[in-house]
Amino acid sequence: MEKQIGTMRVLVTGGSGLVGKAIQHVVKEEGGAREGEEWIFLSSKDADLTNAAETRAIFEKHRPTHVVHVAAMVGGLFRHLRQNLDFWRNNVCINDNVLQTAHEFGVVKVVSCLSTCIFPDKTTYPIDETMIHNGPPHESNSGYAYAKRMVDVHNRACWTQYGRRYTAVIPTNIFGPHDNFNIEDAHVLPALVHKTYKAKRDGTALEVWGSGHALRQFIYSLDLARLYLWVLREYDEVEPIILSVGQEEEITIKDVVDAIVEAFGFTGPVIYDTSKSDGQMKKTASNAKLRSYRPDFTFTPFQTGKHQTHLSQLKKSTVLT
Ligand SMILES: NC(=O)c1ccc[n+]([C@@H]2O[C@H](COP(=O)([O-])OP(=O)(O)OC[C@H]3O[C@@H](n4cnc5c(N)ncnc54)[C@H](OP(=O)(O)O)[C@@H]3O)[C@@H](O)[C@H]2O)c1
Repeated sequence: MEKQIGTMRVLVTGGSGLVGKAIQHVVKEEGGAREGEEWIFLSSKDADLTNAAETRAIFEKHRPTHVVHVAAMVGGLFRHLRQNLDFWRNNVCINDNVLQTAHEFGVVKVVSCLSTCIFPDKTTYPIDETMIHNGPPHESNSGYAYAKRMVDVHNRACWTQYGRRYTAVIPTNIFGPHDNFNIEDAHVLPALVHKTYKAKRDGTALEVWGSGHALRQFIYSLDLARLYLWVLREYDEVEPIILSVGQEEEITIKDVVDAIVEAFGFTGPVIYDTSKSDGQMKKTASNAKLRSYRPDFTFTPFQTGKHQTHLSQLKKSTVLT
């Protein structure tokens, strides 16, 4: 039985990004919104959330009852290596501004977005929700990881001090339309899509950074969006919840490369540059908690014909130069 939580006015920060656009799609195209609900999707043009006054002004304007907080400085491994300090400072500011302003405006629920790459580097596998603070993160993205971990610290303190039920989801690697395809800054999958596109166009070799042996779990952005709505409406815990496909669906970067190469019909040579970092070799996450709530949820499989469709959507959905 679904819980009735009355009319909601939901403010989605980061509404113009990969996850925000997927939530927008589910809300507007898949009937995710209920009658009487209002959904507001923000980009950085509406408010720079690193700025406390601008954050306050946007809450004043929209007076949300609920906040889906996905805005963040986001990027792939090589951007993290270049801009570790910026990731720390920008994300700490954004998160503190959003969470504190939400509290001051009496927002009933905030669902923030963490990531499986914030977990300790040295850990046992699979990782689960109880292990976030058990040791230092991988040094490649420590600024981002600590900033994200502080969201969990904030949520717990806000619960004990004010009884606010603010929580967070923890997705694995996400892929889907509206991703950032910039080769230098992007996550591994969109960066590989862009590189493969260029290699095919220019008749050159496809150069992959790293050995290809690193393991990752990928969640399709629309699956994540559907689960995000469920968390907003139904999930009552302050403790975060991992949103991921099962451990058995973990694949290597080489598997990803092979899928992209096949989707593009790329027949040239593929070279793995092992002088470049692999990042964390694996971050295998358990989705047991999610499965205890949602044993029925069907994930869109990565390595199927359907995925080929998603890759062609990716090709169409962006300006690949
Ligand atoms: N992508 C992944 O694989 C992945 C994996 C795990 C977790 N996550 C988390 O998922 C969430 C969404 O990520 P994403 O992949 O959708 O990122 P994205 O495509 O880069 O989008 C980031 C969003 O945040 C907004 N934003 C950035 N800085 C801002 C600022 N100073 N003020 C206001 N808005 C700002 C951007 O607005 P503009 O468009 O105007 O710049 C954009 O809407 C993030 O919290 C991220 O940490 C992502």
